[in-house]
Parts: sequence; structure tokens; C-alpha cells
Amino acid sequence: MARKKITVVGAGNVGATTAHWLVSKELGDVVLVDIIEGMPQGKALDLAQAGPIEGYDSRLVGTNGFKETANSDVVVITSGIARKPGMSRDDLLNTNAGIVASVTEEIVKYSPNCIIIVVSNPLDAMTQVAWKKSGFPKNRVVGMAGILDSARMRCFLAEALNVSVENVSAFVLGGHGDTMVPLPRYSTCGGIPITELLPKEVVDQIVARTANGGAEIVSLLKTGSAYYAPSSAAVEMVEAILKDKKKIVPCAAYLEGEYGVNGLFVGVPVKLGANGIEEIIQINLTTEERAALQKSAAAVQELVDKLNL
Ligand code: NAI
Ligand code: 2OP
Repeated sequence: MARKKITVVGAGNVGATTAHWLVSKELGDVVLVDIIEGMPQGKALDLAQAGPIEGYDSRLVGTNGFKETANSDVVVITSGIARKPGMSRDDLLNTNAGIVASVTEEIVKYSPNCIIIVVSNPLDAMTQVAWKKSGFPKNRVVGMAGILDSARMRCFLAEALNVSVENVSAFVLGGHGDTMVPLPRYSTCGGIPITELLPKEVVDQIVARTANGGAEIVSLLKTGSAYYAPSSAAVEMVEAILKDKKKIVPCAAYLEGEYGVNGLFVGVPVKLGANGIEEIIQINLTTEERAALQKSAAAVQELVDKLNL
């Protein structure tokens, strides 16, 4: 069986760490693209030289162009600028929209059949830019945020419950911003809703910490934003697609009436498989949860409107 080919655009913190997880899981050959001369080449060579020690045979190529990306199965877009202390994800809007639009054009030229996973922020709006620019059907463009946000919530919950992170599942919907919607009712430990295991004050604190999860790391790092968990989340999506796992995960998907949202990418549970987003899963929400999701979608719409797509 021919190896799969994965391109990662942007070889900064998230991109390089994505490449690291991809080859360590031997998910395919990896092309790293960045505008900084020599940097993606150097990181690709360095990662290739870890192969004999770690035991992976993935081929790694670093480049400043897109020719080498031809016929990729999946392309992960991480190019752009990241948050610094005091900046919100939305502050990145115009700069990253230009970058995402230009790299999408190149991706489509060389890999017209690929599936695009967008990571660049502000996430939901950037996914809309990539979808619009690509001309791809909606199932082949998907944004990474919900897996990261729910992993953060899982991590905090496992700590509070003193259990394995593997026992905890959590759901976070909505846009990847301050208005994201963590759903304690659908979050479980060993199948038991966490609302039955933890006092309301603790759940409320964890919900607030989850929504602030990105900013917490920015304020600690001071020079950039999180990248280990974000890249791990992106790789879970690549794996679900390449292995046709049909995994139910929260991702930014183009909604056409689902959850009362129309014509917009927002985080919802989807089935991820070989065809990208194979289904949007509709779960029942309380009036309060639905209102929070609507508010979050309205915040995404506000950003998208500023872009005049
Ligand atoms: P970084 O600054 O370490 O890396 C970004 C890289 O993109 C740089 O190496 C830069 O040279 C490159 N780049 C810029 N313009 C480019 C172009 N036209 N073509 C190719 N490469 C280009 O930033 P980091 O930490 O890797 O973050 C990347 C993006 O991902 C940021 O927008 C950040 O906000 C976002 N992010 C999103 C998350 C999510 O949950 N969706 C989580 C973490 C980060
Ligand atoms: C995060 O959530 C900054 O979006 C990035 O870490």
C-alpha cells in the first residue's frame, strides 16, 4: 500500500510539533512548508534523523514552495501569526486571513483532492476563508479546535476526580473563542455524567478554565501560544481521516441549518472519516445551551462579516 502524504503549512511551533507527532505515529510521509528560508528544511532533516532512533520510516521534506506538496491526501494549515500576551485570537484576523487565503490557493493547485484541516486563528473564521478560497465541498474543509478545548477540559476533570485522563470524555461546542460552550451534561467519567460526580462550583470553575485555556498558556509562555496539545489534536483528526476511523469528535464544520446556524463554520460534533466530515451529529441542547451556542456563532459571524468574503 502506498504511503499517505500529509502536508503541514507553517513550520513554527504548531506545524513542527504536528510533523513530529505525525511521523512518530507513522501516519505517512510529511512535507513541511514555511516562508522562512532553510527553517522547514532544517526541521524536516532533524526529524528525519530521529527516525532511526524512534523507528519510523516516514519520509520528511522541508520546503519554501508548494511543488513538493503535490498530491497530498491531507493538508494541515498552521501558517500565520500566533497570540502574544494581551492579544485575543481575533486580533489575528486580517493578517492571518491573507496568509490562509494565499496558502489555500497553492494547496488547491497542487492537491485538488485533499482534505484541508485549518488550525490558524481565529479558527472558525480562518476555516471559512480556506473553504471559500478552495472551492472545495464542505466535507473537505474542517477546523481544529473542539478536540483541543475538550482535551483541556478532560485534563482538568481528570485532575479534579483523581482518575485517568482516559476515563474522561468531554464536549465543547461553539467557536474557538471566549464564547466557546463547554457542555458538562455531555461530559462523563467512566460513562457517568460529571455533573453527578463533582459539585457545581468545581464544574463551573473547570468550565471557566477551559474557556480561558488558550490565554492561560499564552500568559505563561509570554512569547507565543500553546502547541503540544493543539498539534496533538490536529493529528487525531489526520489519523481519523487517513484511517477512515469514522470518529465522533468536535470540529469546526460548515453548518447549513444544523443547530440553527446557517452558512458558517462553528464547532459541533462530527463524524470524521476518509471523506472528511461525513456527518454532523445533532445532539439535544437545553434552551440555555442552545442560546450559548447561538451567541458563540454570532461572535464568529461578526468576524466573518469583517472579512467580506
Ligand atoms: P508560529 O509563529 O510558531 O508559526 C507560524 C509559522 O507560520 C511561522 O513559522 C511563519 O513563518 C509561518 N508562515 C507565516 N506566513 C506563512 C506563509 N504565507 N506560508 C507558509 N508559512 C507561513 O505560530 P504557532 O504557535 O505555530 O501557531 C500557528 C497558528 O495556529 C496561529 O495562528 C495560532 O493562533 C494558531 N493556533 C490555533 C489553535 C487552535 O486551537 N485552532 C491552537 C494553537 C495555535
Ligand atoms: C489556543 O487555544 C491560542 O487558540 C490557541 O491555545
